[in-house]
Amino acid sequence: MIEAGKYYLVMGLLDPESIAYHIGKTIESMGGNVIYTVQNDIIKRRFLDRAAALTDEERANLDFRFCDITDIEQVKELFGSIAPLAGIVHSIAFANPRTLLGPEFHTDSIDDIKLAHHISCASLATVLKYGAARMEKGGSVVALTFDTTHVYPCYNWMGVQKAALEALVRALARRHGRDNIRVNALSAGPLATKAATKIPGFENMIHMWDAASPLKWDIVKDKQAVADGVAFLLSPFAAKITGHTLVVDGGAAVTAAPLCDWERPGGPPTPEGDA
Ligand SMILES: NC(=O)c1ccc[n+]([C@@H]2O[C@H](COP(=O)([O-])OP(=O)(O)OC[C@H]3O[C@@H](n4cnc5c(N)ncnc54)[C@H](O)[C@@H]3O)[C@@H](O)[C@H]2O)c1
Repeated sequence: MIEAGKYYLVMGLLDPESIAYHIGKTIESMGGNVIYTVQNDIIKRRFLDRAAALTDEERANLDFRFCDITDIEQVKELFGSIAPLAGIVHSIAFANPRTLLGPEFHTDSIDDIKLAHHISCASLATVLKYGAARMEKGGSVVALTFDTTHVYPCYNWMGVQKAALEALVRALARRHGRDNIRVNALSAGPLATKAATKIPGFENMIHMWDAASPLKWDIVKDKQAVADGVAFLLSPFAAKITGHTLVVDGGAAVTAAPLCDWERPGGPPTPEGDA
């Protein structure tokens, strides 16, 4: 699916649980070459400490670049020195959990809102502004989002950033069509990662999600389904798809309510009159 031998930049590696890492491994399993960005050297060392399962050879073969997405000079340096790319994955987000996530929506921390917007949304435009030149023959850019059609407890200002991110994806798709660059988002169900565990009430979200998913949802195993969806959007199979949000969430965002027991495989018989 991925174009073998081509280079893909996967931005936003934190640890082996990161969605970015699963996406990178999936691209590699399909024959692509992966370059990861980490925010700084501390995070790179933390990743290597936690990646106990990696062999010495796998460690040596990992290609890391540093990029704090809020530092425009680092972004320019990254794209000034990188191989020609077939695709870029933006798997980056941040919101101060003390002020922007939690039981109370309202906040006076406008600087935190600005930072969350810069890192989680506007940075995608920075990536396209400087990264488009590295995709001379066209390419595909994918950003990670979370359901923006419903409002979830405690997700508060990150939900607002994700809605803005999806609007930005549409704007960038229009802008970069002339460069033969596609820009899409993938909306993932909740997954067990560092960013997710910082969301107060994440445990509740997991239970709600699994209960509402016609296909069931596993916060660990379904990282693979999300990575496969990203690989699809990066690939020539998605050649005419741009400006869209592909939802990979087990179907929970459309049901909007827990499934009844009798709707589950092996559940009790269908209630009379509902057959
Ligand atoms: N985990 C989920 O449940 C879930 C669901 C849907 C979408 N997402 C999205 O997936 C993406 C990846 O998140 P994740 O869950 O893998 O968590 P994660 O914590 O592993 O990844 C978030 C990444 O953002 C990076 N980051 C934060 N500030 C940065 C900055 N200034 N410069 C560069 N990088 C910076 C972090 O270093 C980290 O690598 C995010 O956009 C997240 O919102 C996650």
